[in-house]
Amino acid sequence: MKTEYLHSSLFLVSLLLIPLSYVSSAPPDPNAFLQCLARNNVSDEDTKAIVFSPHNPMFTSVLNSLAKNLRFQTPETPKPVVIVTPKIDSHVQSTIACAKEMKIQLKTRSGGHDYDGRSYTSNETFLILDMFNMKRIDVFPETETAVVEAGATLGEVYYNIWNKSKIHAFPAVDKMDPDLFIRLLLQPGDKTVKVTLLGEFLGDCNRLVGIMNQEIPQVGFKNTDCMQSTWIKSKLWWANFDNNTAPEALLVLFN
Ligand SMILES: *[C@@H]1O[C@H](CO)[C@@H](O)[C@H](O)[C@H]1NC(C)=O
Ligand SMILES: *[C@@H]1O[C@H](CO)[C@@H](O)[C@H](O)[C@H]1NC(C)=O
Ligand SMILES: *[C@@H]1O[C@H](CO)[C@@H](O)[C@H](O)[C@H]1NC(C)=O
Ligand SMILES: *[C@@H]1O[C@H](CO)[C@@H](O)[C@H](O)[C@H]1NC(C)=O
Repeated sequence: MKTEYLHSSLFLVSLLLIPLSYVSSAPPDPNAFLQCLARNNVSDEDTKAIVFSPHNPMFTSVLNSLAKNLRFQTPETPKPVVIVTPKIDSHVQSTIACAKEMKIQLKTRSGGHDYDGRSYTSNETFLILDMFNMKRIDVFPETETAVVEAGATLGEVYYNIWNKSKIHAFPAVDKMDPDLFIRLLLQPGDKTVKVTLLGEFLGDCNRLVGIMNQEIPQVGFKNTDCMQSTWIKSKLWWANFDNNTAPEALLVLFN
């Protein structure tokens, strides 16, 4: 379950949703799932440590710990048959095999960057494969690669790269210029909509002004709209920390 990224590849590390649909009929018994894991190479000891059934006192806190949207924390919100929190690759493999065998929909939750509840709610009978125990990050500046497990949050990835190298980063990719990422903020007014462009560019302000005026001249982008900072400071800026916050703050972000 390891994914290899170039230091300059895709952005959404923590948004890994793997919707595998297996339509089900009668609601399966959590115990039947445990028995299936036993048949699929997971020891009783490991099963006790990694599986949370609804009668486990920890079930609700594990379920809600990465549920960002209170709308999906109500008693009516459909609950998973079990939550599996794998610690090693083979736990993931066995969980997928059992979900398939028992025809239970599998929802994968990674760093938790999911405000829509898609990784932890469903109208099908489902289980959650919750990756928070697997968040190892290995950074290799020599080869300009990093190996990141699926449960790592963006903050942890940014921090760990910065902690190894001050000249490498993990940037976003965009259709315009590969060094440019733009986010559109829409604020509806009475009869108008205010549009704010927030962006990040891997380069200096002069080059950015050139690119912006070539791609979207309507915006009238100027040098004074641009602020240069180190890459790690830009991550703190996106997370709304003030200017003097230390990079360690990224380690306690939730996604
Ligand atoms: C069985 O589980 C062990 C760890 O519990 C793992 O190391 C091994 O790779 C697994 N074997 C298979 C065939 O999945
Ligand atoms: C479940 O069904 C409701 C009502 O049709 C819908 O609003 C909701 O988006 C569905 N949830 C998911 C996760 O598909
Ligand atoms: C940052 O790197 C140093 C040196 O390799 C290491 O000792 C430290 O544990 C790292 N910090 C964190 C929070 O991982
Ligand atoms: C943060 O730093 C930027 C650039 O150095 C500066 O323009 C801005 O005014 C600072 N904001 C605060 C709140 O200090």
